[in-house]
Amino acid sequence: MKILVATEKPFAPVAVKGIKEVVEAGGHELVLLEKGTKDDLKAAVADAAGLIVRSDKVDKEVLDCAPELKVVVRAGAGYDNIDLAEATAKGICVMNTPGQNSNAVAELVFGLLVMMCRNYYNGTSGTELKEKTIGIHAYGQVGRNVARIAKGFGMNVIAHDPFVNDEIIEADGVTPVGSVEELYSKSDIVSLHIPANDKTRKSVVKQLVTLMPQKGILVNTARKEVIDEESLMEALDERQDLRYIADVKPDMADAMKERFGDRVFFTPKKMGAQTSEANIKAGIAAAEQVVAYLKDGWNKFQVNK
Ligand code: 3PG
Repeated sequence: MKILVATEKPFAPVAVKGIKEVVEAGGHELVLLEKGTKDDLKAAVADAAGLIVRSDKVDKEVLDCAPELKVVVRAGAGYDNIDLAEATAKGICVMNTPGQNSNAVAELVFGLLVMMCRNYYNGTSGTELKEKTIGIHAYGQVGRNVARIAKGFGMNVIAHDPFVNDEIIEADGVTPVGSVEELYSKSDIVSLHIPANDKTRKSVVKQLVTLMPQKGILVNTARKEVIDEESLMEALDERQDLRYIADVKPDMADAMKERFGDRVFFTPKKMGAQTSEANIKAGIAAAEQVVAYLKDGWNKFQVNK
């Protein structure tokens, strides 16, 4: 059967090689579509039984062009790019590959933080992370890796996640806090790791952000959609000491850059998971999951049950 890997942001070549080996060992054919348009994707998916994507949009329009499709695997964590209801209606299994790229994202959190705290390496005196409090907003796989690295920096680590038991957070030497308001008011730095869904979209607002102590930094390696951008701009206006870093441009990036200059920084493309290691782990896991599903319906990480 044909398995299509369609990535607007291509995997490292070494990961593609590994994916190909897994697909071929499973008796299937790999077709690669890199940096394609939506029309390219619609054409390429026409005879595919399996589809592997990253943040690429798999909406009704794409699914309508894929009569043979049985399984879609998002090589990564967040699956807000896939129309789950439509996939379910068509009997297509959708899976993600939890945890495979989480270290890469967590490392970028600190890459971005050090860069901002050292004033973009412009020669002036910056600040250190040691002894600062970092608040982890959602304690999933990336949050856990952020906690581990933060401890290496000598930071005080706190976290809030209503879906994770306090004992699990405490077992990592992290202090759980009972509310999101408490998290923001106690954190010099807040690192966002909430998924984008109907409950979280635009949930990070001025009222929350302005609870942060002086010189607070909000770092977002999750999704731009979880931020209410207009409200955040009001917060940055009201509190001239606050800063915002995001691994993916906000919709209002130009306006923010113009108004707040170096107090904001955005990567031009989502870079968190863009390492060879993460590409290999997430890409190969995705290939193995597609092959296993086509073989005997293996669906451990199905997200549209
Ligand atoms: C994820 O949800 O796994 C990350 O945001 C990575 O997304 P990417 O595969 O588009 O880099």
